Amino acid sequence: MNQQSKDNQPRKDNQPILPEVDNIVAVGAGKGGVGKSTIAVHLAVGLKRKGFKVGLLDCDIYGPSIATMTGIEGTSPQLNNDRKIIPFDANGLKVISMANFIPKDTAVIWRGPMVHGAVKQFLSDVDWGSLDYMIIDLPPGTGDPPLTLAQTIGVTGAVIVATPQPLALNDAMRAAQMYQKLGIHILGIVENMSYFICPNCNTIHDIFGRGGVRKAADKANIAVLAEIPLNLSIRTNTDSAHVEDNFDKTKNPQIAPILEEMINKLIKQVKFRNENYPKPEPLVVKKS
Ligand SMILES: Nc1ncnc2c1ncn2[C@@H]1O[C@H](COP(=O)(O)OP(=O)(O)OP(=O)(O)O)[C@@H](O)[C@H]1O
Ligand SMILES: [Mg+2]
Repeated sequence: MNQQSKDNQPRKDNQPILPEVDNIVAVGAGKGGVGKSTIAVHLAVGLKRKGFKVGLLDCDIYGPSIATMTGIEGTSPQLNNDRKIIPFDANGLKVISMANFIPKDTAVIWRGPMVHGAVKQFLSDVDWGSLDYMIIDLPPGTGDPPLTLAQTIGVTGAVIVATPQPLALNDAMRAAQMYQKLGIHILGIVENMSYFICPNCNTIHDIFGRGGVRKAADKANIAVLAEIPLNLSIRTNTDSAHVEDNFDKTKNPQIAPILEEMINKLIKQVKFRNENYPKPEPLVVKKS
């Protein structure tokens, strides 16, 4: 819980959990399967490629897939001398995923307090060090877990991932509204699986109705960070932990510039938010 004194300083019996993390960006979605983890990992890798120090935290209790997408699946967490968990190093990214703490193929029923306990531990008991950005993959949907997590963590803002079909888009815009109601700034929306470019004839096919997100986002005064096509390299490179390759202009000339622009727009949105709105209240934890 955020517990602030009147002068907006953390109370003396509390300490900020992430004092050295400048910007926390939560990635959410109105529903599952729209590419939320894919976008989260691309945001993290893209920011890292710009020279920022980046952490990636997988809070998706229902389907933690960041471990697979960053190639740290099956590795066991280690502790440092202060008995803090050392984040995994995925090519320069600091990564922590729920998946590394749950035996593979084990179904865990997460009750509310357990989720909060685990996430609090991921924030306070992990040696994140100083970071320019922390990207958080939230659980999908507009239920209690994603909203409470985003609010509890005290994020700089949220990026919403949506596909353009009207039904999916409605859910995404509802998610954006709910985050806003909780005082969480929306940094932008990403239209994923926006269109398909035929690899044989280069014709663009708007399978799901490209542009739907832009219309809805314009109406809600939310920035569109990218329109990302349905693309084979995105799927194969993401699922095999080769996300860096999607940013390579030689290997992926169609995708790399779109991803690059998404990162530039996110940086701009974070800067705008930090310059124009009060700092998110630091997450504080009671000393036991
Ligand atoms: N633009 C894209 N082009 C091709 N494949 C994609 C694209 N975006 C995501 N995918 C693929 O779709 C699948 C689902 O993506 P992802 O796991 O990121 O979705 P999610 O929203 O995180 O799902 P969940 O709700 O289950 O966590 C993955 O195999 C991913 O590689
Ligand atoms: Mg996911």
